[in-house]
Amino acid sequence: MLQDIIDLRRIETIYEGEKIPVIYDINLKIKSGEFVAIIGPNGAGKTTLLETINGLLDYISGEGFVFRKEIKKNKSQIRKEIGYLIQNFEIDPLAPFLCKDIVMSGRTGKIGTFRFTTKKDWDKIWYSMGLVGMIDFANRPIGKLSGGEFQKILIARALAQQPRLLLLDEPFSNLDYASKIQIETLLNRIHEKYKITIVMVSHDLNFVPVGCNRIIVMDKGRIIMDDKKEKILHSNKINDIFKNGGRK
Ligand SMILES: Nc1ncnc2c1ncn2[C@@H]1O[C@H](COP(=O)(O)OP(=O)(O)OP(=O)(O)O)[C@@H](O)[C@H]1O
Ligand SMILES: [Mg+2]
Repeated sequence: MLQDIIDLRRIETIYEGEKIPVIYDINLKIKSGEFVAIIGPNGAGKTTLLETINGLLDYISGEGFVFRKEIKKNKSQIRKEIGYLIQNFEIDPLAPFLCKDIVMSGRTGKIGTFRFTTKKDWDKIWYSMGLVGMIDFANRPIGKLSGGEFQKILIARALAQQPRLLLLDEPFSNLDYASKIQIETLLNRIHEKYKITIVMVSHDLNFVPVGCNRIIVMDKGRIIMDDKKEKILHSNKINDIFKNGGRK
C-alpha cells in the first residue's frame, strides 16, 4: 500500500496579528507518487496551504504530518526533502548571479556566499539542471533569461536537493503558451521518471498537466472539492466558484 506523504487533519492556519484563520478545516491526504493540482481563485488560501505543509507557517489547530513526521516538530528535517517553487519569485535583472548560483541556493538556502559546497553538491546541481534541459545556461546571468527559461531554472532549484516532494506554486504564471507546454512536459517527465510526489497550485483551469489526475478545489480558505481531474473539470460548480470566489 502506498504511504501517505501528506496527512493533514482539521488544520487551521492564521497569520500573525489576524483574528480569522486563512485556511480552516483542512483534511487532506496525499499518497507517495501522486501528482495533484490545487486550484482556486485568488485569495483562496492555496499558497497558505503550501506554506503550512512546508512548515513555513504554523497551524494553530489540528494535526499535520509530512513523511509521517509531525510538521511542527520536524520542520527543518521535512524541508530538506521538499522542493519548493515560490510563487512570483523575483530577482533583480542586474543581480550578479549566474543560473548555477540560483540552482545551488536550492541546496544551501543562500544565494552568493555559499557554505562550503562540495563536489556532491555540484553533482546534484548539474543533475537537476540536466533534468530541466538547462545545463548550457549554467554560466548565464540569471537576470538575462526569458520567462520560460527562468521558470525552468527555478524548477531545477526546487529539484536541487533531490526532494521526495515537490510543492509548486503557480509554475505556469507569466508564461506564454509555448513555455507552458514546455513546463508541462517537463513536470510530466519528472513525475513519470522519478516518481516524485508533486503538489502544484494553479488558478488556471485551462492548464492542468496530463500526468495530474487529482484536483483539489479551494475557496475562501477551505477545501470544497477533491476528486478525479475529469470529474472536477466537468462539474458545473467550478465555473461559479471562479466567477464568485476569492476571499473578501
Ligand atoms: N502575511 C499575511 N498576513 C495576513 N493575511 C495574509 C498574509 N498572507 C496572505 N494573507 C491573506 O490570506 C488569504 C489567502 O492568501 P493566499 O496567498 O494563501 O491565497 P492564494 O490562494 O495563494 O491566492 P493567489 O491565487 O492570489 O496566489 C488572502 O486573503 C491574503 O490576503
Ligand atoms: Mg498564491
